[in-house]
Amino acid sequence: MQFFKRKQLSEVRDGAGKSGLVKSLGAVDLIFLGLGGIIGTGIFVLTGLAAAQYAGPAITLSFLLGGIACVFTALAFAELASMLPVSGSAYSYAQVTVGEGISMLVGWTIVMVFSFGSATVASGWSGYVIGILESAGVFLPTALTKIPAEGGWINLPAVFIVMLLTSIVLRGTEGATRFNGILVVVKLLAIGLFIFLAVPHVDANNWVTFAPKGFDGIAAGAAVIFMAYTGFDAVATAAEECKNPNRDLPIGIIGSLVGSAILYVIVAGLLTAIAPYSQLNNPQPMAFALRLNGISVGATLVATGAIAGMTTVILTQIFAQARILMMMARDGLIPGAFASVHPRFSTPYVGILVSGFFVILIAGFLPVSTLGQISSMATLMVFAFVSLAVMILRYTRPNERRPFRCPAVYLVASLSCGLCLFLFSQLFWVNWKPYLLATLVGLITYLGYGYWHSKARVTGSAS
Ligand code: ALA
Repeated sequence: MQFFKRKQLSEVRDGAGKSGLVKSLGAVDLIFLGLGGIIGTGIFVLTGLAAAQYAGPAITLSFLLGGIACVFTALAFAELASMLPVSGSAYSYAQVTVGEGISMLVGWTIVMVFSFGSATVASGWSGYVIGILESAGVFLPTALTKIPAEGGWINLPAVFIVMLLTSIVLRGTEGATRFNGILVVVKLLAIGLFIFLAVPHVDANNWVTFAPKGFDGIAAGAAVIFMAYTGFDAVATAAEECKNPNRDLPIGIIGSLVGSAILYVIVAGLLTAIAPYSQLNNPQPMAFALRLNGISVGATLVATGAIAGMTTVILTQIFAQARILMMMARDGLIPGAFASVHPRFSTPYVGILVSGFFVILIAGFLPVSTLGQISSMATLMVFAFVSLAVMILRYTRPNERRPFRCPAVYLVASLSCGLCLFLFSQLFWVNWKPYLLATLVGLITYLGYGYWHSKARVTGSAS
């Protein structure tokens, strides 16, 4: 049955060789791409909210829990990325493990991750910039800063940043990664500055009630801040633009994730140690906590770093989404135009433009808070799938060449899968209706278009 038709690994790899993308990225570029995609709204915005409403100072443990789940997932991801260095990431891993129908759903879920995720981050970016402008005495009219449901016309700053980043991604991978690299340095400096300024103000009294809601609060906190860890998966979508993907993809994926996890745990610990957790429920918790300790200039610098951080996240997500669409188009599951590469810029320009357009529509005109959670749920689902896929391939293709091998694979991947599904369930009960609705749209797209135009159907190539 076509729904379950699987591709050969060699077939997927051969397709990658014909993409026309330029191979310009090395291991350091990939680590920066990962750090660009990972460190953003999660740490700069959500930490305070999650500490105040759920975990208290134990938000540090929430970050640890989320980090452990992600390191396990990253190990599984790294094995698959080194075996199958193609831009499709989890979508392509699904093609060779569970077949066309599920792979379409996995691809669709990744599109949900990136489009809803980048719109949410663009909205957070807009909030930060408006806040900084207002503190400098510049007030934009409400009509241009709020979406219609909040009494405005359009969230113009969000639209502006998405348009700018879409055009940068469109004009070539090398330029986009250089721009990304500069901003990653800025956000890392901001985090370093926060740590440096916060350490002398640590007050143990702020940690006296460490976990006000016990394990439930820690788990709920981990689900809320989980978004902070997403983004390392975007590294895998750059596979066809790497000079040495077999070696560099695992380094990029694991290196960027472990680096971010260490920074997150330190920042969360310090944040709740320099300010009472109950006061942190605001969109700029790091800057707020510094101001509370009388460090205003530092607070402004950290806020600037946060803007740089969110900018790189949006850029990485638009970059990654276009490449997933390119892979799906290459297989005939969505229209072929998404697979065409620009003759001058060597980028999948149709996917970039369409992705940018949808993110602009969502960020400029729609409420994004639920969409942010849908993006986290979709990520958890993709991560659970990748953990499953690595075990399936170890079992079905034990002798396949694996440049990187996940250690203790069945244990690590089972723990990753279990933890991701557990965190998914924390969000599912609140958001199941919009989540299932969005998934249904993907299924309908497959049944209405992909099934009929699939290359596997036309050529009868898959097994
Ligand atoms: N991990 C990204 C962020 O925190 C999505 O903004």
